[in-house]
Amino acid sequence: MAIKKREVVSSFTVYDSAAELAAGDAVLLQKSVSELQHSYSPYSGFKVAATVLLANGEVLTGTNQENASYPVCMCAEGTVLGAVSSLYPGVAVLKMAVTVKSSQQSIAHPVAPCGLCRQRLLEYENRFQQNIKVIMAGESGEVLVADTVKDLLPLYFSGSDL
Ligand code: THU
Repeated sequence: MAIKKREVVSSFTVYDSAAELAAGDAVLLQKSVSELQHSYSPYSGFKVAATVLLANGEVLTGTNQENASYPVCMCAEGTVLGAVSSLYPGVAVLKMAVTVKSSQQSIAHPVAPCGLCRQRLLEYENRFQQNIKVIMAGESGEVLVADTVKDLLPLYFSGSDL
């Protein structure tokens, strides 16, 4: 029996800082930073904002919304994707900029969407057959850009498995 190794390739563009981003990506990230104030995160002190650019030109932001019953907390990415589906049904997401701010420490590295949110993003990407560019930034430091959600979730489960 031959045991094979298979590689799943995942790639990101690394920018030294937000100042290096392409103009449109920088604007989306700036918008996300300005919306962090709407995070409701009294339990973690960790604010997250996710701002999307839609194919119709609309820009929408979601922030994390916590709950005293911790598993009820909603991530910023899930919040905004739910809003997009409800407010702009049938419109694809082109880009998402995710950023954070912590009351405990200065976050000097990019923060990536959690596993659940990667799966949510993947569903959106596959549903609209439209790659979603994901821009990930901390409060300072490097910014990562993935051209497709598949770079965040290389070995994924999707509707085509069912
Ligand atoms: N959080 C997000 O909003 N998105 C993620 O992808 C990771 C985590 C939120 C959930 C919770 O309110 C806080 O960050 C700490 O986990």
